[in-house]
Amino acid sequence: MDFKKEVQDRVDENGRNAPLKAAAHAFMKESVAPKYSYNFSWMGRPIIQYPQDMVAMQEIIWTVKPDLIIETGIAHGGSLILSASMLELNATCGGPEEAQVLGVDVEIRAHNRTAIEAHPMARRIAMIEGSSIASDVITQVTQKAHGKARVVVLLDSNHTHAHVLAELNAYAPLVSVGSYCVVFDTVIEDMPANSYPDRPWGKGNNPKTAVHAWLGEHPEYEIDRSIQDKLLITVAPDGYLKRIH
Ligand SMILES: C[S@@+](CC[C@H](N)C(=O)[O-])C[C@H]1O[C@@H](n2cnc3c(N)ncnc32)[C@H](O)[C@@H]1O
Repeated sequence: MDFKKEVQDRVDENGRNAPLKAAAHAFMKESVAPKYSYNFSWMGRPIIQYPQDMVAMQEIIWTVKPDLIIETGIAHGGSLILSASMLELNATCGGPEEAQVLGVDVEIRAHNRTAIEAHPMARRIAMIEGSSIASDVITQVTQKAHGKARVVVLLDSNHTHAHVLAELNAYAPLVSVGSYCVVFDTVIEDMPANSYPDRPWGKGNNPKTAVHAWLGEHPEYEIDRSIQDKLLITVAPDGYLKRIH
C-alpha cells in the first residue's frame, strides 16, 4: 500500500480510538497546572507550545511554503524563531527566498526584543507592538500581507472568545487558499471549568467557542481534523483551520 495512504488510514483510525483519545485528554488535563508547555525552547528561545503542535507547524510550513507567516502573541519569541527557521530551511530547498514572519504583541518586553533581534533568524522577523485587534495594527499587518502569494496565520495572543473572534475577522481573510489559520488554545474548552482561575478565559469563553461561532459564517474554511487526529496531544483541537476557497 502507498505509505501516505497507510499513514492517513492509521491517523483516521486513531481519531476513532476512544481509549487512545481518553489517554491523550487525561495527559492534556494533567499537564496544564504544572505548566508543561512552558519548558521548551526553539533554537535557544523559550517557546510556549506542546512539541506535537511544533511538529504540526513544521509540516504546515514545509507543505504550504508561505512567503509570509503572521503570528499574534510573541512572548519570548520562540514561535517566531520556529517559523523563521522553517522559512530559512524552505529557502534552501527551493521555497521563497525572502519569506518573512510578522509578529504582533501588545507588549514586547525589552529583553525579549533584544534577544529576538540578536538571533541568527532575525533577518526574517518583523514585529509590531500593539493589540492585535487595534485598527492601526490590523492596517499595518494587512499592508504587509498585500501581494503575498502564500500566507499562514497563527493566533496565540489573548484567548477570550471576543478577542479571537475579532482576530479571525481581521486576519483569516489574509490566508491564501490551501493554507492555514491556526487558532491555539482551543483546548481550554475541553478542560475542567476551574483550570484557568487567574485568566479572563475558561469554559464557554475561549478560542474554540470563537472558532465554532465564526466557522458557521465562513464556509471558505474547514477544520482539518486529520491534524488533531494525528497529534492527539494538542492545544488546538478544532483549531487547525484550512482555507479551502
Ligand atoms: C501564550 S503567549 C504567546 C506564546 C508564543 N506564541 C509562543 O509560542 O511562544 C501570549 C502572548 O499574547 C500577548 N497578548 C495578550 N493580549 C494581546 C493582544 N491584545 N494583542 C496582542 N498580543 C497580546 C501576551 O503579551 C503574550 O506575550
